Amino acid sequence: MINKELEGSQLDRQLMYINMCREKVNQLSNELKRPLKCCVQTFGCQMNARDSEKLLGILQEIGYEPSESEEADIVVYNTCTVRENANLRVYGRLGQLRGLKRKNPHMIIALCGCMMQEKEVVEKIQKSYSFVDVVFGTYNIFKLAELLYNRWESGKMVIDIWDSQKQVVEELPTVRKFPFKSGVNIMYGCNNFCTYCIVPYVRGREKSREPRDIIREIERLAGDGVKEIMLLGQNVNSYGKTLDNPVSFAQLLKEIEKIDGIKRIRYMTPHPKDFCEELLDVMSQSSKICNHIHFPLQSGSTRLLKAMNRQYTKEQYLNWVDKIREKLPDVSLTTDIIVGFPGETEEDFEDTLDVVRKAQFDSAYTFIYSKRTGTPAASMENQIPEDVVKERFNRLLETVGEVSHSISARYENTDTQVLVESLDDHEPGLVTGRMTNNMLVHFPGTADMIGKLVDVRLTECKGFYYMGKRKTDG
Ligand code: 5AD
Ligand code: SF4
Repeated sequence: MINKELEGSQLDRQLMYINMCREKVNQLSNELKRPLKCCVQTFGCQMNARDSEKLLGILQEIGYEPSESEEADIVVYNTCTVRENANLRVYGRLGQLRGLKRKNPHMIIALCGCMMQEKEVVEKIQKSYSFVDVVFGTYNIFKLAELLYNRWESGKMVIDIWDSQKQVVEELPTVRKFPFKSGVNIMYGCNNFCTYCIVPYVRGREKSREPRDIIREIERLAGDGVKEIMLLGQNVNSYGKTLDNPVSFAQLLKEIEKIDGIKRIRYMTPHPKDFCEELLDVMSQSSKICNHIHFPLQSGSTRLLKAMNRQYTKEQYLNWVDKIREKLPDVSLTTDIIVGFPGETEEDFEDTLDVVRKAQFDSAYTFIYSKRTGTPAASMENQIPEDVVKERFNRLLETVGEVSHSISARYENTDTQVLVESLDDHEPGLVTGRMTNNMLVHFPGTADMIGKLVDVRLTECKGFYYMGKRKTDG
């Protein structure tokens, strides 16, 4: 049980460590005659991105200056382990960090996040990456200052991995990557146990936050200039079911809608097995909830969906798609699909292609199945040979491309509101913003437009994004 009083004293304890670290950083900065820099690198999903904002908040409070470069005095890798590739990337980049640390002996290397919740990973780091300074997990990111201080005091690698969410400390400072938008955790963990997925093992059991805590956080964000929020949970449709006073996700959305200053509300991720009409009704009546549903399919084959423990059939999924389109005719639907799950036959794969064509996704994130040790699917027979998976993967990309190309272009020559996020990365004189359906638009603009909602005419669809012009530009 998470105890409010304990949370308060833990907060005081962490604020004390932040102060102690600040003295140490000050001292070091005076010795080196330069400010100390910190770099937080995020791997993985939106949950991790939000956690990284919390880590950066603590580091800035300690006195580090943020930096994009890993030539910094502390580098934190907030890792993901959802697929093998994510792990391999971390090991590869750690090798490069070792070189940077040789040049800067004061450098601290910290690793945290989902990958660190796996015993074998921590053992490997202790054995082969002894230059790493601090290792912690997904449940105790609020302890960064304490762990850093312990590292300085002990001179040794500090490892602190919890096996469940014993405490949450939410009142620590955070730094938002974008001043005008923010993720908001509405729940932690996952109870679904899809047989391919490691998340329930590294993020623990599902736990919803109290609505009043969520509302208070969003009110504060709105007061701070945030216009767009993304509500985060592994299965937002099961939000609130286990609270002392149960509340549905749709009811929570209605309350959030009332908060002044918030102009756009997004959420991620719903689960088709728990989807409900109440949510569609709230969405269709809302002027703030964005016109986008990310609706993970994973497979179009009822047989494979059963083996994946997804708890819906191909027909049920397509029924939801029909209902969604009926109530929200203009909605953008995106999805996640896995190719090469153990036992996948050509027929199963054809079912997936069939759903892609019928559901008319705006876009799909496609993944090659990755065997995660400890999950039920890892020990299933009939793992699919690599060449078969690759060939299917390419066919899937082709089908997704064909479908999404015509679907995405449906807004060409229409007007829309865009929240401007940044200057364009590639072309000077352009800015980049997001439509309510989450697509990017590039159009002529200036830095003062960042964080503002502007009316834009969509002049040309370039596949996954649009080119446009500001309406006042004629
Ligand atoms: N292999 C491949 N893709 C996976 N995902 C989750 N676990 C795996 C795995 N073992 C994908 C799912 C999920 C997305 C976040 O990552 O499609 O929706
Ligand atoms: Fe996110 Fe899952 Fe990766 Fe963790 S393992 S970062 S929860 S996608």
